[in-house]
Amino acid sequence: MLKDFEYLSIRYKDEKLEILDQRRLPDIEEWMESKTPEDMITYIKQLSVRGAPLIGVAASVALFVYVRDHPDADRKTIVEVSDQLRNARPTAVNLMNNIDTMIQLSQPDQDKRDYSAEKMAELAYSIVEAEVEMCRRMSEFGAELVQQGEGILTHCNTGGVATPGMGTALGVIRAAHRAGKQIHVYVDETRPLLQGGRLTTYELEREQIPYTLICDNMAATLMAAGKIQRVLVGADRIARNGDFANKIGTYSVAVLAKYHNIPFHGVAPWSTVDPACPSGKHIPIEQRAPQEVQGASGAFGSVRWAPKDSQTFNPAFDVTPNSLITSLILDTGVYDCQSFEKYVEQIKGNLS
Ligand code: MRU
Repeated sequence: MLKDFEYLSIRYKDEKLEILDQRRLPDIEEWMESKTPEDMITYIKQLSVRGAPLIGVAASVALFVYVRDHPDADRKTIVEVSDQLRNARPTAVNLMNNIDTMIQLSQPDQDKRDYSAEKMAELAYSIVEAEVEMCRRMSEFGAELVQQGEGILTHCNTGGVATPGMGTALGVIRAAHRAGKQIHVYVDETRPLLQGGRLTTYELEREQIPYTLICDNMAATLMAAGKIQRVLVGADRIARNGDFANKIGTYSVAVLAKYHNIPFHGVAPWSTVDPACPSGKHIPIEQRAPQEVQGASGAFGSVRWAPKDSQTFNPAFDVTPNSLITSLILDTGVYDCQSFEKYVEQIKGNLS
């Protein structure tokens, strides 16, 4: 029913949906099967599956698997299951956009009782393919901006493990490297969950792209030393006015870039744009557990250095206002954020 596919961190083969457990990278490559929506919700919440495009794709395929395995489920139950998947994490809008597409476009006919698994299979596959293609297109648009020999700072992980394709910001880096631009990447480790230190480094190593890993608080020193000519980051939700939410720490990088006069770009597919969201103030920001800030945990075990009851502040994302963004690089082109609202209407019109 659903055609097989395999990407760096998600695959569907022999009727099994599997994801690469991103918590265990870079040293352990362990695939886990997602048999039920509950499995997928757990994987998304614990960041085994992470990155805005990937969670949207993974949840869509998980919804298909549920409908396939429950031929007797009625409409109400399927909608409830889709809502649970939709609510697994609140910030990345790809999740909501993709689940809404699955539910709206597979509406049963009036005289039929159920959503059709066939239709859901088709939709899930087209969502996967579209994300791969959008990654390719935005990577090409972005790579055209990159100049020979640039030092590029990136934050979090926006690559092949965060998407089913070549990535968003890391896709641009990949495309620039493949085009022979001789870039050097500076990778923010990205506290508290170290997506840069664990995952971006993993991907850059695999592709032999020259990089230097830094702690988040070292970016200013590198900028002042003239080592960084461009900042490329991903996004989890782009509001209509061009403000966007991305991994916590992105806003501080944008402020630093503005001060040092360094171009700062957000790179994302159309599935990350939320035309219904007027500005960054309206983006829901996920708050996470104190333990992530009180210490660290991963495949290496866990360690706590702060007092057990220490009070913490742990938002998973922050919002970068459009005034700090040089341009947004989407799969449809490169846009000036100050007039993004106008473009959103145009792109919506072209796509419908
Ligand atoms: O909490 P995460 O790891 O899911 O956050 C991911 C990010 O913030 C990424 O920058 C964003 O999703 C873009 S990934 C292509």
